[in-house]
Amino acid sequence: MSDPTTHPITPLPYQADFEALEDGEAETERALSETLHKINEIVRKDEGHAYRSVHAKSHGLLFGELQVAAGLPSMLAQGVFATPASYPVVMRLSTVPGDLLDDSVSTPRGLGMKIIGVPGERLPGSQADVTQDFLMVNGPVFSAPTAKKFLGTLKLLASSTDKLPGLKKALSATLRGLESLIEKAGGESGTLKALGGHPETNILGETFYTQVPMLFGPYMGKLQLVPVSPELTALTDAPVDLHDRPHGLRDAVVEHFSHSGGTWELRVQLCTDLQAMPIEDASVQWPEDQSPFVTVARIVAAPQVAWSDARSAAVDDGMSFSPWHGLAAHRPIGSVMRVRKAVYAMAARYRSEHNATQVQEPRSLTALPD
Ligand code: HEM
Repeated sequence: MSDPTTHPITPLPYQADFEALEDGEAETERALSETLHKINEIVRKDEGHAYRSVHAKSHGLLFGELQVAAGLPSMLAQGVFATPASYPVVMRLSTVPGDLLDDSVSTPRGLGMKIIGVPGERLPGSQADVTQDFLMVNGPVFSAPTAKKFLGTLKLLASSTDKLPGLKKALSATLRGLESLIEKAGGESGTLKALGGHPETNILGETFYTQVPMLFGPYMGKLQLVPVSPELTALTDAPVDLHDRPHGLRDAVVEHFSHSGGTWELRVQLCTDLQAMPIEDASVQWPEDQSPFVTVARIVAAPQVAWSDARSAAVDDGMSFSPWHGLAAHRPIGSVMRVRKAVYAMAARYRSEHNATQVQEPRSLTALPD
């Protein structure tokens, strides 16, 4: 990370021809929706409630304040970050599977962020709202280069939803062993982590990434959310005991926020070179030596009840997070981002249709319940 006022990069202005529709993209989008709908149906039959078809389980539902940094240079003062204002923000911590697994099946972690009351021209489909969502996972790159390649992985995940949770638990313990061997050897295996081999660490210590690009005013960028206050950085890689504690991740978050708060920095990495930082290949990590992440805002959360049934009704059931809820200045780009528009809209509709609580975009928020 470098100082936003002095970093020496020259961002590349966006041009429409940096994006190219993937072969059969409309069909990929349809098949993704169909597969995710299938997961929705399986889990609803099991649980009697409609959950997200991925990131079903929440581990923390946090309320905080996003403070845009003052004095940003014009290349960084874009979209939400155009003026040094403060906004209420909701953060939903999750893990990837679409079913409600015991936390000892340890998988990659997600964070949905909803900033409320942002001014500016809006994305198509989001004109009536006042929110800006950013969705992140705790790794720098997406598991597949394109939407079509991702469809293959997702079909595999769909076929394992609901299959023998006991077996998944045993498998996870074995995979974690393998993962630590690979990490000792200097590598890292996304597949092992996705299948349940993620290290059993406190979710509050994680750094999260949007992984895929969006417009950043006239430029293009990816975002990162980094814990910076000592009480959060102490939790990075800190082990959490998930043995016989099916909701151990959530318990650790609730325990932390019962006495402490936290501060994160929200950082952007701007694209400076299309070859090194492609838009249509989500599996390439943009090199930080060519374009470092720089801080554009911070998020502060005070001690609070970080998860409760009332919060779950308000956020898990009553809200949806989508990269297409937001400003035109942050339009999602690249095939993975494009197909998410229809898919997330379908997913929110499904939950509205099957649960008592309607999914709605909040227009204002002073705090969450509890
Ligand atoms: C083609 C690629 C992708 C598809 C089809 C997809 C699909 C979905 C769907 C259907 C949901 C549930 C939405 C709901 O029920 O409201 C979801 C949630 C989520 N996705 Fe994705 N996703 C994709 C890529 C990504 C990427 C690249 C990230 C971030 C790096 C991401 C992060 C998340 C997060 C954090 C959530 C949970 C949001 C919440 O708390 O409500 N997804 N995704």
